[in-house]
Amino acid sequence: MNATVLQEMTAAEAAEFVQHGYTVGFSGFTPAGAAKAIPMAIAKRAQAEHAAGREFKIGVVTGASTGDSLDGELARADAIAWRTPYQSNKYLRQSINAGKAHFFDMHLSMLPQNLRYGFLGKVNLAIIEACEVTPEGEVVLTTSVGATNTLVRIADKVLIEVNAQHPAALRGLHDLYEPKDPPHRREIPIYSCRDRIGEEVLRIPPEKILGIVHNDMPDEVGGFKEPDEATLKIGDHVAEFLAHELKHGIIPNGFLPIQSGVGNIANAVLGAMGGNKDIPPFEMFSEVIQDSVIDLMKNGDVSFGSATSLTVTPDVLADIYGNLDFFKERMVLRPQEISNHPELVRRLGIISINSAIELDIFGNVNSTHVMGKDLMNGIGGSGDFTRNAFISIFTCPSMAKGGKISTIVPLVSHMDHSEHSVQVVITEQGVADLRGKDPIERAQAIVENCAHPEYKEALTSYFRSVKGGHTPQSLGSAFAFHQRFLETGDMRG
Ligand code: COA
Repeated sequence: MNATVLQEMTAAEAAEFVQHGYTVGFSGFTPAGAAKAIPMAIAKRAQAEHAAGREFKIGVVTGASTGDSLDGELARADAIAWRTPYQSNKYLRQSINAGKAHFFDMHLSMLPQNLRYGFLGKVNLAIIEACEVTPEGEVVLTTSVGATNTLVRIADKVLIEVNAQHPAALRGLHDLYEPKDPPHRREIPIYSCRDRIGEEVLRIPPEKILGIVHNDMPDEVGGFKEPDEATLKIGDHVAEFLAHELKHGIIPNGFLPIQSGVGNIANAVLGAMGGNKDIPPFEMFSEVIQDSVIDLMKNGDVSFGSATSLTVTPDVLADIYGNLDFFKERMVLRPQEISNHPELVRRLGIISINSAIELDIFGNVNSTHVMGKDLMNGIGGSGDFTRNAFISIFTCPSMAKGGKISTIVPLVSHMDHSEHSVQVVITEQGVADLRGKDPIERAQAIVENCAHPEYKEALTSYFRSVKGGHTPQSLGSAFAFHQRFLETGDMRG
């Protein structure tokens, strides 16, 4: 293929290829590496079509969440018929919770194979971001891989945004590999975080590429909240717990790779691990490399990072690009099917650390829905890692919304991770180690060690009021905390 024969076009011209009812697969895993200019132009096109009285909505598939120029613009233009597998955009969330956009929440490692198996129908178009397209037809991706390799292969046609924010020297950062489908699937030959098994570049047949759009928009990665006292304490408890496990030989000498979720708590937890003198330098086998990991790499506290996206704020990205050789030796970006693969999580002995919206006294976790009904973001990779981890940890502050909500409740109002997968719960109050405990012992450990003092009595009296059974539960009053909040705006009544 010769890049010079590829048609250059504006984003508006590219958007003309998108038809009402299409399924479009976009690059991007978090705002990192997401297509930006063409989705904005699609949103404009949708608005023009709606103004002319015509229907215009598309199915949107990405790696995970994206930036506002994709999910925000398309949601505001009411251009999303359905969306999968994850999102974290305020406007899209509103649209989903209002029943305007259909959203199905999916384990992120499963998206690429579900696409290949045909579970989601045909993908008409893939719209991806790259930093280089060579005359030989090699395409170098930018700050994420996500599902891009699979989307490009199965889509009928491809549009490429070449983004000048990212240097062509990113070549070599990515490791692109797609497993075969059953009955031909073999093991994925990764035996350490650093193993590389695939290609550095995507190869796209030229006849599939409709055109190239030049773009210069940075990744829309937001900053983090300054950690508050509760978040810092959670970080310290996680670090102390892991140091204890290492000291007692549960975690082998040399430590095990860490998976850490997204968000403010995850950022603080990693910071605390780096600061703990009893934790040796460790590797990450995770979904996202975020700001705190970069600091830890520079200090030598994180020796290597395997992920599917480099989701860092603009200053941190500039720092990485200024020292690219240093960072390329210490990280690899893989497809989400590989970065989150249950086979690898189990084989490598990953320690998973994710955050909960709420959890119940038996250790069931709700990661996704507020008051059992309103979607927050989605399950993301938390299930991929939790279910298969060496040790699975969930963190959250013991209260939310200034104390009006206890994050520890008698029964979760929506369940993403069951008691069978959740081994350790950590709040700013302390640590509940659930391993080897029956439901009654779990409840005692969670209420005693993790609940906020303001809610301990209510939780204890709920628990004492129900008698008998393996997992004591009162179907009549299990949701009394939630009901009280819905009626009075405060779980304390
Ligand atoms: N009820 C209502 N709201 C709650 C709540 C509860 N029980 N628990 C938390 N919240 C709200 C917080 O008040 C906050 O709201 P705000 O943005 O209006 O301030 C928001 O949820 C985020 O909570 P925060 O405490 O800042 O934590 P976070 O940024 O670490 O996010 C999750 C927590 C659970 C929302 C986030 O981790 C997530 O989406 N997880 C699911 C996906 C996942 O685990 N991905 C990683 C896998 S690799």
